Amino acid sequence: MNSRQFRTFTRRDFLGTSIGAAAGFSLYPSGHRLFRELAARETPFTPFQFPKNFLWGSATASYQIEGGWNEDGKGESIWDRFSHTPSKVKGAATGDVACDSYHRYKEDVALMKQLNLQSCRFSVSWPRIQAGGSGPANQKGLDYYKRVTDALLEAKIRPICTLYHWDLPQALEDAGGWPNRDLAARFVDYSQLVVKALGDRIQDWCIFNEPWVFTFLGYAWGIHAPARSNMAECLRATHVVNIAQGQAFKAIKAINPKLQVGTAFSMANCEPATSSDADKSAAERAHALGNIWFIDPAIKGSYPKAFLGENPYDTMGVKSGDMELCKAPLDFLGINYYRRQIVAAAPAGGDGTGVHNWDGHDGPLTDFAWEVWPDSFGDLVLRISNDYKIPIEITENGCSYLDSPDEHGRIPDNRRIDFMRGYLSALGRAIAQGANVRAYHHWSLLDNFEWAEGYAQRFGMVYVDFRSQKRTVKDSGKWYAELAKSGKLT
Ligand code: GCO
Repeated sequence: MNSRQFRTFTRRDFLGTSIGAAAGFSLYPSGHRLFRELAARETPFTPFQFPKNFLWGSATASYQIEGGWNEDGKGESIWDRFSHTPSKVKGAATGDVACDSYHRYKEDVALMKQLNLQSCRFSVSWPRIQAGGSGPANQKGLDYYKRVTDALLEAKIRPICTLYHWDLPQALEDAGGWPNRDLAARFVDYSQLVVKALGDRIQDWCIFNEPWVFTFLGYAWGIHAPARSNMAECLRATHVVNIAQGQAFKAIKAINPKLQVGTAFSMANCEPATSSDADKSAAERAHALGNIWFIDPAIKGSYPKAFLGENPYDTMGVKSGDMELCKAPLDFLGINYYRRQIVAAAPAGGDGTGVHNWDGHDGPLTDFAWEVWPDSFGDLVLRISNDYKIPIEITENGCSYLDSPDEHGRIPDNRRIDFMRGYLSALGRAIAQGANVRAYHHWSLLDNFEWAEGYAQRFGMVYVDFRSQKRTVKDSGKWYAELAKSGKLT
């Protein structure tokens, strides 16, 4: 996730966040006694032995690590166009080279092996497979992912592949993008090409990554590609994505019913600002739009109630029979979790949701100024597990800290270790209370291209020197490697 789940950001919120960010970074560096006391107070810790078959992994995404942006027949994606447009990305950064994983994937798989990882979540770049978004597959594109997958299998690491992590072929955006209903059929064609080619090697598939984020940030708020700012188009896009999800699910199952198919959903625990009924129902509406807007159509064949009045079905372009198209009994729910939201009721008007939400400010902040509040993660996971009774994979969870090599070349990123211990402890508590969770993927293996933030954030367990492409395992990576071996959180 990014700068985003919050829509209305008051000056007070802003000041709180920036002052907190400054404090987290300069006044209380990791290792400082006061920082440790604060962290200990904010992140209750319970040791936990994770189940034997629990999978420990990491997650990455094509545009964020691959580079090779115009190699071997790859077409232009909306993220190529966006990052090549001045002023869109911090520092004029692009993913043209990124971590150069297009050429260094073997080294990256070796790193995963070194970290004892058992699962690797990665994504396929659509324009590598279909440069213009339609027609036959580009064999060189498919071959790249075959090589990556084979390297993973040889290292005994389970591949879990995301079909769409935001790099839409630019030609399809030119034809109307996600608000255009025809895109659902294009997406199904593309998914079939990939699954037919790789389904013999890859059992586990995520259809989409964070549909809420790419529809809202890309089409309503204009801060991600394709940089449109139109709420009606965004709402339309959400419906087309739901149709595409349902149809792609059925198409994949038709190729091989044994494949495990889900989606990675961005989620934030939505906590009412006060105990008033008005705030509680606002929190439910925020949960409906932010967390389950792309789950209920698949599982229940209906949209959850997210607006004060009726959901705006006409604006969304919902036609009779559509909800059947959206249906898909997903095999697992992927949860990408970063932070909670505090929610208050807002007067009618605006976007019609009657929601005013903002980031919590009670915990320490990461260098991206995101609050660290592990309990919210456990609460959310437990709720989703109880509400849907479908196995869960944590498809992303992580934090940005800017720690860099010390004079010995070592990266002592203790704040990331504290973050992981806190969030994994909360996950352990949720599992102990009955949550059905089978895997955890840390975001991310490598420092990488963080969307509109460019290279200004570092989410990796492995430090990347973007000039030399040298990779160095951070202390958090070493810590995670031990955990991945024993499953024992101490
Ligand atoms: C997202 C993605 C990742 C991000 C990560 C950190 O949510 O934006 O799935 O691509 O890099 O979440 O923001």
